[in-house]
Amino acid sequence: MSSTAPNPIARTVASTQSEMTEIILPNDTNTLGNLLGGRLMHFIDVTGAMAAYRHSRTNVVTAAMDHIDFIRPVHLGDLVTLKSSVNRAFSTSMEVGVKVWAENTRTGAVVHVASAYLVFVAIDNQGRRQQVPQLILETPNEIRRHADALLRREHREAESARRKEARHAVNAEEHAASIQS
Ligand SMILES: CC(C)(COP(=O)(O)OP(=O)(O)OC[C@H]1O[C@@H](n2cnc3c(N)ncnc32)[C@H](O)[C@@H]1OP(=O)(O)O)[C@@H](O)C(=O)NCCC(=O)NCCS
Repeated sequence: MSSTAPNPIARTVASTQSEMTEIILPNDTNTLGNLLGGRLMHFIDVTGAMAAYRHSRTNVVTAAMDHIDFIRPVHLGDLVTLKSSVNRAFSTSMEVGVKVWAENTRTGAVVHVASAYLVFVAIDNQGRRQQVPQLILETPNEIRRHADALLRREHREAESARRKEARHAVNAEEHAASIQS
């Protein structure tokens, strides 16, 4: 997939900030009455995409969702709030951070239940990858998240290379075994 000409508009992190709140209904839960992990991942993907859309103003696809820790269970009837913003814009991809809280509607207690990092790639209407705008950093936290996002990208690339190497090794072994048999 080729990418198109640079997109000249730069946007602030604040302009990408997005939020979604859902009430947890019986269809969202497991047999213990807790929110299903896959359902929460769906909410995270959707809220992350909102920030990526706001930054790129084009179509986006999810390229990767990093390791997620489900820190605490979310219960039937809780309100789940997810907040997202773009941490770093690369060439055609963006790293988005999503943080999730659950609110007990009876007591009003709010707890942090999960966090995740996702990578979205901008795609134009012809299906070509599209350059994303630069990101304007305005606060110390935004500067820190921007720096951390580069480290995570390097880590993802190293992991991807390691997995590719492992696949090649397995394929080579299978090929050698098929020749011998
Ligand atoms: C994601 C996708 C567009 C990448 O396309 P590609 O032609 O392989 O592109 P490249 O490998 O040249 O990478 C393009 C960009 O994506 C990033 N990228 C690709 N795979 C990635 C991965 N697994 N994790 C993080 N970033 C990734 C690259 O770092 C690069 O970013 P940059 O342009 O900012 O440097 C393509 O693999 C795809 O369409 N995947 C399916 C997406 C999908 O259906 N998602 C779920 C539903 S939305």
